[in-house]
This record gives sequence, structure tokens and C-alpha cells, in this order.
Amino acid sequence: MGSLQTRYMGITLANPIIAGASDLTSNIDSIKRIEEAGAGAVVLKSLFEEQIQLERFKLEEELNTGSELYGEMASIFPKLQHAGAKEHLMWVKKSRAAVKIPVFASLNAVARATWVEYARQLADQGVDGLELNFFATPRDFDLGGAAIEEEQLETVREVRTALKIPIAVKLSVFYANPLNVIGRFDREGVNGFVLFNRFFQPDINTETESIAQPFNFSIQADNRLPLRFAGLLYGKVKADVCASTGIVSGMDVVKMLLAGASAVQVVTAFYRNGMKSIATMKDEVGRWMDGRSYATIDAFRGKLSAVKAKDPWAYTRAQYAKMLLGPKEFTESVTT
Ligand SMILES: Cc1cc2nc3c(=O)[nH]c(=O)nc-3n(C[C@H](O)[C@H](O)[C@H](O)COP(=O)(O)O)c2cc1C
Repeated sequence: MGSLQTRYMGITLANPIIAGASDLTSNIDSIKRIEEAGAGAVVLKSLFEEQIQLERFKLEEELNTGSELYGEMASIFPKLQHAGAKEHLMWVKKSRAAVKIPVFASLNAVARATWVEYARQLADQGVDGLELNFFATPRDFDLGGAAIEEEQLETVREVRTALKIPIAVKLSVFYANPLNVIGRFDREGVNGFVLFNRFFQPDINTETESIAQPFNFSIQADNRLPLRFAGLLYGKVKADVCASTGIVSGMDVVKMLLAGASAVQVVTAFYRNGMKSIATMKDEVGRWMDGRSYATIDAFRGKLSAVKAKDPWAYTRAQYAKMLLGPKEFTESVTT
């Protein structure tokens, strides 16, 4: 079988399948199982600003337990009473030591000072890289997109300056022009982009007339969005691209590599099908490569990217117009 080796964030991975940040990567036993199952790397569950702030509040416990904000945080994050930032940092260090595959930490902060301080602290735990999990849902009518982008850019710049290890940005697609934002982050020296962050949307329970926060897994068709952007970014950014969301099968992995990604992150498929799906996916990729005599991933990576694809319209508006105006073929997917 050809070699599944790849490079992501400048680091060599034995294969391109990375276990993405989730509750499956939030304890050492499960991380060991992920390694045993054959993943190329693992992204640890994120450290959240709320954990950091809650711990700070706990330090001033007497003063703050009655405060509204403390009450709100403790009700949203009851478990965090026992999992503050310090505990998370210790766990990150132990997780790094527990396995041999590359281990990436993940941070989801709000304040710039927190981003930089905790990026440093996570890096100090010996991880191989750090994923910055940018999550910005609009709430403020007065805050323009440019200001949000500038703040994120400054955060990336400061974290990049503060850290020696590789950093990746896991970002949303909800920018007017994600390519422009990614290009600017790239010029700051980001080593990887995770396409894309998954936002969990609220729902409404019509029976109780209340807001619900259901937990939805992704579906396979969701992977067309990272596919498009992996295809657009190949050859245009220095950083390695990691496609994420809706990657379920070995052929999904092959598609992302053909578009130009260096690796993929998987969560939902591991919840649904168990860790054994890592071996299945690797086997499917390997057999597909053998069938075409590809000895390495680099032999075909990016072959169907925007810069290399034979169809010059594949990633453009012409594709949109052709799809909607031309004869229609209704298929769920080209391959499953
Ligand atoms: C239970 C659960 C917990 C998650 N926790 C995190 C997290 O801590 N940090 C993060 O960046 N993403 C988190 N995610 C999002 C995943 O890393 C991933 O981006 C998303 O599930 C899409 O990938 P998938 O389609 O393979 O599930 C979580 C997802 C799930 C299902």
C-alpha cells in the first residue's frame, strides 16, 4: 500500500486523519484509544474563556458567588466548577505524555489578553501545536465586520509572536470574503487552517415555547463547503489546510486531498461509527491510491484544486449558473 504520510502545520503525520476537538478528546483513555485506532494526530478539547473566567471568579469566591455573572456561568458550565484552566493545563500535559502521535491543544478565548496568556500556557505543556478556535456570532449591530477581522488579526499576530510552536486557526466561513481573511492570517505566519468551525444553532420548542439548544451532528453533505475552500486555497497560502465537517468515509478524505487539503479532522463519524472508522477510512484511502498507483499523497494532492483543475469554471460563478440553469442531475453524492 502507498504511504499515507502527510504534513500538517509543518509536522509530519503518519496519515491525514486527525481526531478533532470534542468530548472524545477530553480524557486520556479516549486519547489513547484514538492513537491505538490509528489516527494521525489528535486535537484536544478546547480550553474556553468561560473556564478561565470561572476559575478567576472562584479565586474571589466569597466576593462573587452571589454575582449575576458567576451564577450564569455556573449554571451554563456546572462541570467547570471542577475543571478550571489550571486543571485543564495539567491534563493537557498528561495527555501529551500519554501518546506518541502529535497532540494539538485548542483554545477558545474572547479577550485578547486571555488569548495570548493562555496560548503561552498551553504551549508550555509541551504540545506539538495550538489550534485557535475562533468563534464569533454577531450580536452587536454597531460592530462592523472589518473591526472583528482586525481584532482577530491582531490576536493571531500577538499569539504568533508569543509562541514558537506551530499554530492553526479554526475559523468560520461567515466572512464576506473568507479568502481575504485567510490570506491575511497566512501572512502573519499561521501554519494551518481548519475549514471550518461548526456553530451549533439554537432551536425553538413550540410545545413549551422555549429556546432549545439541541446538539446536532454534521451530515456528509456538509463537507462540500470545506471541499470548495480547500480547492480555492491550494497553492495560494503557505499554511497547510485541514478540511473538517461532514468527513465520514475514506472517499471523503480522498476528495479533500484531491482538492488540496493536507489533512482532515473527524468528530461526528467517530461518535456514530466508533474509532474503528479510522482503520476503515485509512484502508479505503490506501486502496484507492493503489488502484491508481499513487505511492504518496503528494502525488495527487491538489490535483483538482482551482489552480490545477482542468475545468477552469469548477470553483467559479459559472459553476453556479451552470448548475441552476443547465439540465439537472439529482444525486446525493458522487461517491459515498
Ligand atoms: C461533542 C462535541 C464537542 C465539541 N467540542 C469542541 C471543542 O471543544 N472545540 C472545538 O474547536 N470544536 C469542538 N467541536 C466541533 C468539532 O471539533 C468539529 O469541528 C465539528 O464536530 C465538525 O466536525 P464533524 O463533522 O466531523 O463532526 C465539538 C463537537 C462535538 C460533536
